[in-house]
Amino acid sequence: MVSSAADAAHRGAVLSKGGVDVDTQDRFADLSGATVAVTGGFGLIGSRIVHRLRALGAKPLAVGRLDAYGSSVYSSVFGLSPQDGDVIAGDITDAALMDDVVSRSDYVIHAAALADVAECTRNPAAALRANVDGTQTVLDSAARHSGTVRRLVFVSSASVYGVGTGTADVGARFAEDDGLAPESVYANTKLWGEHQTGLVLGGSDSSYAIVRYFSVYGEPQVVKENSHSWVVAWFAMRAALGLPLHLNGGGVQVRDFVHVDDIAEATLLAAVTGGAERATLNVGTGRATSIRQVAELVGRHFPGARIVETPRPQGDPLGACADITRMRRVLDWVPQVGIEDGVDRYVAWLERSPEAIPQWLRAQAGAA
Ligand SMILES: NC(=O)c1ccc[n+]([C@@H]2O[C@H](COP(=O)([O-])OP(=O)(O)OC[C@H]3O[C@@H](n4cnc5c(N)ncnc54)[C@H](O)[C@@H]3O)[C@@H](O)[C@H]2O)c1
Repeated sequence: MVSSAADAAHRGAVLSKGGVDVDTQDRFADLSGATVAVTGGFGLIGSRIVHRLRALGAKPLAVGRLDAYGSSVYSSVFGLSPQDGDVIAGDITDAALMDDVVSRSDYVIHAAALADVAECTRNPAAALRANVDGTQTVLDSAARHSGTVRRLVFVSSASVYGVGTGTADVGARFAEDDGLAPESVYANTKLWGEHQTGLVLGGSDSSYAIVRYFSVYGEPQVVKENSHSWVVAWFAMRAALGLPLHLNGGGVQVRDFVHVDDIAEATLLAAVTGGAERATLNVGTGRATSIRQVAELVGRHFPGARIVETPRPQGDPLGACADITRMRRVLDWVPQVGIEDGVDRYVAWLERSPEAIPQWLRAQAGAA
C-alpha cells in the first residue's frame, strides 16, 4: 500500500535561470551518504521524508512515537516499521536517546509534534510535552553537537499567522515578515518552537532553518478521530463510505493545499540550500482553494456524494494562502503537484487501499 510516489526522485524540479525545470537530484549531493535524523519519522510527513532520503542515498535515522494512528497504519500505510534498521521507536523528550541520535547526525529534521490542532486544544499539557519539552530536548542536543550537525530544520506551521480572512479577501496572503497571531494552543507551541530555535541555536555557530508548512495533504494521509484537520482525506474517506461531506459555514474557508511530496522536497532543500541558513520560509503553493472546491473535486470521483452545509465551528480559520516569494527565491523551487492532480492521486490511492480507512470511521458509516 506504500505510495511508490514516495521514491519518485524524478518529481523534484527547480526553476533554472532559463525558466526550464531541472531535476533537484544534483542539489541533494550533500545528502548522499549523510546521516539525517528525522523526528516524527513515523508520521505522514516524517515517513515521506525518510523514504525520500533513502532514495537519495542518505542514511535516515527516524525517531518517533507510534501512537498518532492505529498500529496497522505505520507498516502497511506509511511503509515504516520499528524493525527497519534506520528507524527507532522512541520519544523526543528522552534526552539520552536524542543526544545519541543527534550526535550521529549530519542533519536534523525536527518534524515530531502533537500535530492535531483539536487534540492540542483538548489536551494542552500533552501539546506542551511534545511540542515544547520535546523541541527543547532536540534543540539542546543540536546545540551540544553543533560541530557535527550541519543544519537543523524546524518544522513550523502557517497557523502562526492566525486565522486569516478567507474568501472575503481571496487575495490575502501570509508573508514571513507579517505580524503573527497564533490563535490555538497548537499554533502557540509552533511559534514558541520557532523563537526557541533561534534562541538556542542562534548564539552559536549552529545552522538552522524554519519551514512553515501550509495545509499538507496527499496519499497516504489517514484521518484522526475527533480531528477537523486534513479535509482532502476526510472528504475522500467519507465519500468512499457513502457518508455526507460537511461544509462547515458553507465551505467558504480557504487553504493553501501543498502535497506531501512537495513538502518533503522543500524540507530537504531547506536543509541543504546555503541561502536557507537561519531563514524562515513559507512552504505552500501560493494558491487559495476553498473547502467547497475541495468537496467538488472529491465529489467528481463519487457521483451521488452528498454535500451538507453545517455551522462553522467557533475559531475555524477562514484562512489565506502563502506568499511564496521568499521560498521561490531562496530554494529556487516551486511545488509540482496542483490540487486537482493531488486530489485525483489521493482518491486513486484510496481506491487501491480501502483498508486505510480507519475502523472507527467505518463504524460511523455502519451506524448511519
Ligand atoms: N499536516 C499538516 O497539514 C501540517 C501543517 C503544518 C505543519 N505540520 C507539521 O508537520 C509535522 C509532521 O506532521 P504530520 O502531518 O506528519 O503529522 P503526524 O501526526 O502524522 O506526524 C507527527 C508525528 O510526531 C510523532 N510524535 C508526537 N509526539 C512525539 C514525541 N513526544 N516523541 C516522538 N514522536 C512524537 C507522532 O507520533 C507522529 O508520528 C508536525 O510538526 C506538524 O505540526 C503539519
